[in-house]
Amino acid sequence: MFFNSLWWTACNKPNKPEVNHHQRRIEYIRKIPGESNPIPIKTAQQGEVLIAYSDCYTCHKEDKDSVGPAFKAIAERYPAQPVYIDLLAQKVISGGKGSWGNASMSAHPKVSMAEARLMVSYILSLKGDSIK
Ligand code: HEC
Repeated sequence: MFFNSLWWTACNKPNKPEVNHHQRRIEYIRKIPGESNPIPIKTAQQGEVLIAYSDCYTCHKEDKDSVGPAFKAIAERYPAQPVYIDLLAQKVISGGKGSWGNASMSAHPKVSMAEARLMVSYILSLKGDSIK
């Protein structure tokens, strides 16, 4: 009985702030303009295997946003150019937040820069027309 009334008061505060259950993707997430270089199919395949053996799929899905953005959304946002591949590879290794929202990507200190570049190349290959 005591717990019941405690629960009632805790959950029925008159001025409880509205919780936004429909958090939408923030406007500042914009596609970066630029041409994409073709990604060799071997590179994409190696990256796909590395991703499958790492923990990436606990937070990412290919088509849908999860804890992290959908891999296809990442592919749409960044041109497949060395500068962006390096930037994203570094981010996979060091982790962090702020590019897509407030959720954090864990750091992956055991992933080498070369492996991270392959993983990112696979992700960016999901753009559709970029595999050669
Ligand atoms: C603990 C959850 C989690 C794991 C595990 C995870 N990610 Fe992420 N990832 C995120 C989140 C959250 C973001 C968005 C970060 C941000 O907003 O800056 C993200 C963003 C990214 C981005 C885009 C970064 C940017 O700045 O736009 C790439 C690329 C990426 N992840 C690849 C990977 C790869 C590859 C792995 C596996 C090695 C991985 N992630 C594992 C949660 C995760």
